[in-house]
Amino acid sequence: MKILVVGTGAREHAICKAIEGNADIYSIMSNKNPGIARISKYQISSENDIETVKKFATRNNVDMAVIGPEAPLEKGIVDALQSEGIGCVGPTKEAAKIETDKVFMRNLFENYKIGGSLTYRVFDNYKDISDFIDEFGEDIVIKPVGLTGGKGVKIVGEQLEDASEAKSYAKEVVDTKMGGYASVVIEEKAIGEEFTVQAFVDGKNVAPMPAAQDHPYAFEGDEGPITGGMGSYSDKDGLLPFLNKKDYDGSVKMMEDTVKAINKEVGPYKGFLYGQFMLGNDGPKLIEYNARFGDPEAMNVLPLLKTNFVNICEEIVDGNLHGAKFENKATVCKYIVPEGYPGKAVPNQVIDVDEKKIGEAGARVYYAAVNEKEGKIYSSSSRALGLVSIADSIEEAEKLCENATKYVKGDVYHRRDVGTAELILKRIMHMKEIGK
Ligand code: GLY
Repeated sequence: MKILVVGTGAREHAICKAIEGNADIYSIMSNKNPGIARISKYQISSENDIETVKKFATRNNVDMAVIGPEAPLEKGIVDALQSEGIGCVGPTKEAAKIETDKVFMRNLFENYKIGGSLTYRVFDNYKDISDFIDEFGEDIVIKPVGLTGGKGVKIVGEQLEDASEAKSYAKEVVDTKMGGYASVVIEEKAIGEEFTVQAFVDGKNVAPMPAAQDHPYAFEGDEGPITGGMGSYSDKDGLLPFLNKKDYDGSVKMMEDTVKAINKEVGPYKGFLYGQFMLGNDGPKLIEYNARFGDPEAMNVLPLLKTNFVNICEEIVDGNLHGAKFENKATVCKYIVPEGYPGKAVPNQVIDVDEKKIGEAGARVYYAAVNEKEGKIYSSSSRALGLVSIADSIEEAEKLCENATKYVKGDVYHRRDVGTAELILKRIMHMKEIGK
């Protein structure tokens, strides 16, 4: 079997590693990711250039395509490949609206009475924005309706000082059509601890994966700017130290109800579904969905998969998913990123990665936004590589992972606190403080 993987990052490297040995891998990537390059037949092209991806897929007679990032989903890559008879692990343009159109997502919760939503309103003019913010009186979150590469969401009390800044920013979102729409979503600010549940979905059946927690802030102690994610961990029971089975099951139920609702509204959702939840004192609330694997969270779950990933992909395409089993192990992933990330990194710096030593230290390498040229690895302005360790406890996995970071040299940094007992205790105490 020939499988096309679309995407360039560590998430796609993890997907390729899950396929390796069970199918021939074909890859479209925007720069030469050394991890993907060495196990695939690849072409360097934009993953958003749908015609080029289609030509590469048909010329190579691929049987199936697995789509990594959200941008090509929004452009209709699945619809285009399906029209050539290629089965896809990824939702159609319409079904991907669960991520690409936040109004579609929130309306779905409202219209189908799915639990765990947040109070929200959609606006297209300053007067209504201003009146609502004055009346609502509580902290809010401003969200562009469409995709903004993780840069559009702003929270009062974090990136926005107060109601006045919230009003100005909401107006800017509308006026500049940020994310492609001349409107803005304003939501109540959910309080608690964030966590991720991902699932395989075949249109009707949902096979959930172990929960994980990402660390979006750049610096230790959850300080600094928001990033794409600086690292993540998962526990051996599939839950998290602050997340019990009841709340995990509640999150999965929301995902199942969402999949049913998407089916009724626009047809079957097939692929990976990423639920980002906030655990508050009254249970989990849905913050947003992604129509893809998380990055870094894909690296927490894919290496634990006991069920053959290629079989799962085939079952997703055929609509007869039988479930997915995972090893009962804990994982810790730490992202190594260029100095200055996010926003101020100087690209094209050499990073020295001693994969052999990293392997001996008990970690795996997943390359992200780096470029290989003449045997050397060069940074970009984004995350460089993820290191992942697997062990019987989070504590053990964290120690292995942290130790392995010393075999990556260059103008880079990482968060040493991801997965440490101290930070996990902070999460547990936070939940206690809010009465959970
Ligand atoms: N971990 C954040 C994301 O994948 O969007």
